[in-house]
Amino acid sequence: MNTRQSYDAVADEYVRRIYDELQHKPLDRQLLDRLDAVANGGVICDIGCGPGHVARFLHEHGANVCGIDLSDAMVVRARQLNPGIEFRQGDMMALDVADGSFAGIAAFYSLIHIPKTQMIAALKELHRVLSPGGVLLAAFHLGTETLHLDEWWEHKVSVDFHFFQVLEMQAWMKATGFEIADAIERDPYPEIEHQSRRGYIFARRVG
Ligand SMILES: C[S@@+](CC[C@H](N)C(=O)[O-])C[C@H]1O[C@@H](n2cnc3c(N)ncnc32)[C@H](O)[C@@H]1O
Repeated sequence: MNTRQSYDAVADEYVRRIYDELQHKPLDRQLLDRLDAVANGGVICDIGCGPGHVARFLHEHGANVCGIDLSDAMVVRARQLNPGIEFRQGDMMALDVADGSFAGIAAFYSLIHIPKTQMIAALKELHRVLSPGGVLLAAFHLGTETLHLDEWWEHKVSVDFHFFQVLEMQAWMKATGFEIADAIERDPYPEIEHQSRRGYIFARRVG
C-alpha cells in the first residue's frame, strides 16, 4: 500500500468531506484569485488536484485550468465532478508535460506527501513545467512532524503527511530557481479542517 493506493481507497470519502471546503476558506479563495490574476490567462495546472475543487474554483473565475493527480480514483472523481476541465493521472516527480507549459501551478496540500529528501527534485520538476516568470502557489501544513496513517476514515491506507516550516520551504524553492514573491501563514479555520497552522508561498520561476 502506497500514497497512490491510499488516495484511491479514500477518494469517495474525500469528495464527501472536502470537495466543498473552499466555500469555508476565504483566504484560500483570495489567494487563488491572486494566482489567477498573475497567470494572466495562461494555463494554471492544479497539481495533486484530488477531486478537482481548486481547479473548479479557478475555472469558475475564468481561468484556463487543468489538473493532475497521482491517484487514478481521484482523477475519475475530478472528471465526473468537473466535466469542463481536463484532468489526468501523473506524478509530480516526473510529469508527462513539456517544459514551460504552465503560467501557474496550484499545489494545494500535495507537496505534503513529498519527503524532505525529495523536495528539491519535486520542486525542480514543477520549475521545469512552469514558463519563465510562471508562478507556483503552494499550500501546506506548518510544523516539523510527519503524521503516518495506517487507517483513514475506516479505510486501510499507508500514507505520510509531512509538515514543513515556511523558511525551509522557501530555502528549497530558492535552491531550485524560484524567487519568493510572498509567504502567508494562518491559523486553522475551526471545525472545517485539520487543526494545523497553514502556510502558503507564491514562488516565481526566474530564468
Ligand atoms: C491532501 S490531498 C489534496 C487534494 C487537493 N489539492 C486539496 O487541496 O484538497 C493530496 C493529493 O495529492 C496527490 N498526490 C500525492 N502525491 C502526489 C504526486 N507525487 N504527484 C501528484 N499528486 C500527488 C494525492 O493523490 C491527493 O489527491
